[in-house]
Amino acid sequence: MNFNNLEQLYRSVIMDHYKNPRNKGALEDGSLTIDMNNPTCGDRIRLTLDVQDNVIKDAKFDGEGCSISMSSASMMTESVKGHTVDEALQMSKEFSNMMLGESYEITEDMGDIEALSGVSKFPARIKCATLVWKALEKGTKEESNK
Ligand code: FES
Repeated sequence: MNFNNLEQLYRSVIMDHYKNPRNKGALEDGSLTIDMNNPTCGDRIRLTLDVQDNVIKDAKFDGEGCSISMSSASMMTESVKGHTVDEALQMSKEFSNMMLGESYEITEDMGDIEALSGVSKFPARIKCATLVWKALEKGTKEESNK
């Protein structure tokens, strides 16, 4: 696949997650709720997590934002479900490395996430892509401090 085809494929994967978001909504009361906003644009995301015995049993998100932030949230929730908190944090680290243009490892469980790799070339959009991961990090930190 040449570079242009790959870029087109990535763009269509991003738009698919944006138009048909996975895990959109909120988990019921009692779940961990994390609100995060992007100060540069005011867009916001609410992430709800069901963490039991250090495992993320379920994850949902809601909010308003651009195609990058919303598709990233859709992909992130898909990726971390069923994983331990430590595994999810490792995924977050790999994602952050990808955004920084450093070497990274995307496991099969992380699904479509590599489609966002091109965002690393647009520094202003990196905050959009990492918004939901920041919420995840904040939420899991709160959970471990309980
Ligand atoms: Fe606001 Fe992307 S422009 S999150």
